[in-house]
Amino acid sequence: MRRAKISVIGAGNVGATCAHWAAAKELGDVVLLDIPDKVGVAQGKALDLLCCGPIERFDSMITGTSEYRDIAGSDVVIVTAGIPRKPGMSRDDLIQTNVKIVKSVSEQIREHAPESMVIVVSNPLDAMVYTAWKASGFPTNRIMGQAGCLDVARFRTFIAMELGCSVEDISALLLGGHGDDMVPLPRYTSVHGIPVTQLMSKEKLDACVDRAKVGGGEIVKLMGTSAYYAPASASVQMAEAIIRDKKRILPCAVYCDTQFDVGGYFVGVPCVIGAGGVEKIVEVELDGDEVRLMQESVSHVKDLVKIVREMFPELA
Ligand code: APR
Repeated sequence: MRRAKISVIGAGNVGATCAHWAAAKELGDVVLLDIPDKVGVAQGKALDLLCCGPIERFDSMITGTSEYRDIAGSDVVIVTAGIPRKPGMSRDDLIQTNVKIVKSVSEQIREHAPESMVIVVSNPLDAMVYTAWKASGFPTNRIMGQAGCLDVARFRTFIAMELGCSVEDISALLLGGHGDDMVPLPRYTSVHGIPVTQLMSKEKLDACVDRAKVGGGEIVKLMGTSAYYAPASASVQMAEAIIRDKKRILPCAVYCDTQFDVGGYFVGVPCVIGAGGVEKIVEVELDGDEVRLMQESVSHVKDLVKIVREMFPELA
């Protein structure tokens, strides 16, 4: 059987950690690509990871490169190229720099891995997925953004800490853009099937919601740059769902037209992820407050996409 191939664009903190999780899960062979100035970093990290194989017992090949031809035949390409946040910055502050990077990376993916599934991680996420979609020309089922898997993981972590129970038993849902106005849905959150609202006071639940919303910023403040272990783990969760055709229901930034009344933008919604990429969007019922929060979040995403279109009219 042919081994799957995962290419990771950007060999920085998130990219190298994606390679780490992908190798640890033995998802397939991994190519770690960075700009020519950093090819040594990409090659060094790849070699270092490769030498974990005998200890961690994986046979994945991991290579570092700056040549896009090396991503040919990739099943999944994870885009982590771009600058991360510094303390005091919002994700939106990255847009001017990262839209140029994600545009050029996506054009290379179109040329060298035209059949791949693309998972975008660079921020501001929802606008970067839009950029990748337009610049690659790929169909919407093959372009998705990683945000919801991370945000839900943070939400589950904080609930488990509060309840003193296993994170594994917590199932949660979250919608909207990957900003501080993301929309966690406590109504759709349960602990092994028990609605979380029966186990926690509204105040404590609200505190978990708030901490999940600003969880990325909390880490930026602590370490001076943005998070990477959990963002990479969440990205590889999506890659695994595709490569192993798991048909998992995951919250991902995907193209929504009539769904949730989004009107043609990429935002976080629950969807089925399998070998066909985004196989289906799962529409859940929302109450009045949830609809209002979702609309606010979507309107923020629209503002960011407007900036992308103004910078690059050809992406309109
Ligand atoms: N092609 C390939 N790699 C690039 C390009 C490009 N055109 N431009 C920049 N890069 C590389 C950088 O050289 C760097 O090695 O992307 C890497 C980014 O790594 P870090 O600076 O460590 O940033 P990281 O923490 O990995 O975050 C990357 O993911 O979560 C988001 O907000 C985060 O936008 C940021 C991105």
